Amino acid sequence: MKILTAVGQVPSQPNSKRRVLVPTMGALHTAHGELIRVARVHAGKDGEVSVSIFVNPLQFEPGSDYERYPRPEKADEDFCRNAGVDLLFRPTPAELYVEDRSTFVDETSLSTVLEGKSRPGHFRGVCTVVAKLFNILVPDAAVFGEKDFQQLAIIRRMVRDLNFKIDIIAVPTVRQEDGLACSSRNQYLNGKERKQATVLRKALLKAAEIARGGETSAARIVSVVRETIGQAPLARIDYVDLVDAKNLQPLDVLRPNSLLALAVFFGKTRLIDNILLS
Ligand code: PAJ
Repeated sequence: MKILTAVGQVPSQPNSKRRVLVPTMGALHTAHGELIRVARVHAGKDGEVSVSIFVNPLQFEPGSDYERYPRPEKADEDFCRNAGVDLLFRPTPAELYVEDRSTFVDETSLSTVLEGKSRPGHFRGVCTVVAKLFNILVPDAAVFGEKDFQQLAIIRRMVRDLNFKIDIIAVPTVRQEDGLACSSRNQYLNGKERKQATVLRKALLKAAEIARGGETSAARIVSVVRETIGQAPLARIDYVDLVDAKNLQPLDVLRPNSLLALAVFFGKTRLIDNILLS
């Protein structure tokens, strides 16, 4: 496995290998492993699978967990090696962000709802860094997870609107046995919080169940989800929203291809999850 830490080390690659990129912020876990596995399937045995690890300061709002975000360098490196990654790109913030930078990538529609409402500037940070990674590593395809459904939709939009010649591949949410979506932030949870966090999946499944049973009112679906989450005393809801899965605009009535998305705090830790309903 090749490890590169500077933009200048990345070869300008006129070779014909199919290159597939998995962008991450490290603290790699089972779900990242699944993204890497899917990347290999798409790259083929002769293709090149790259992983980028960069805790992107631009996508953390002031006062959030940028400083304490886990950075287990050695474990991440071993993880990539064991997963059969060909190239690990691990730049420093100074390497990616010049001090007097003044150009950003702003998606202005999908970014205004859900996470975008709660975390102003977040998706500007995500789009800017992903566009930079695309320009630096020039992949043929890149892999993203559906756990961050909105991020995936915004990246697709950016690729379409800015004519990146990159296929975006989506991977379904990877969960632990009890249903909690894998996340680098799960390790912040204490024992009690971790136990109660299973309520998120339970609430989403409950919504799917009543939707299957014929409930179409967004208000009633959302209220069932809120009530279910309310059973966990340590949970503090940030949002629970039913939106159109294509344009992420809020819905009053359930329709085919609706997305139920939520963000919930357990202590200081903010977890997100979602489910597609039809
Ligand atoms: P990070 O949170 O490290 O996630 C990297 C990729 O793994 C993202 O595409 C994310 O959706 C996916 N992922 C994380 N947990 C998952 C799960 N349980 N199931 C499926 N996929 C999962 O997302 C980011 O980093 C950053 O915003 C990034 C895109 C790297 C830009 O900085």
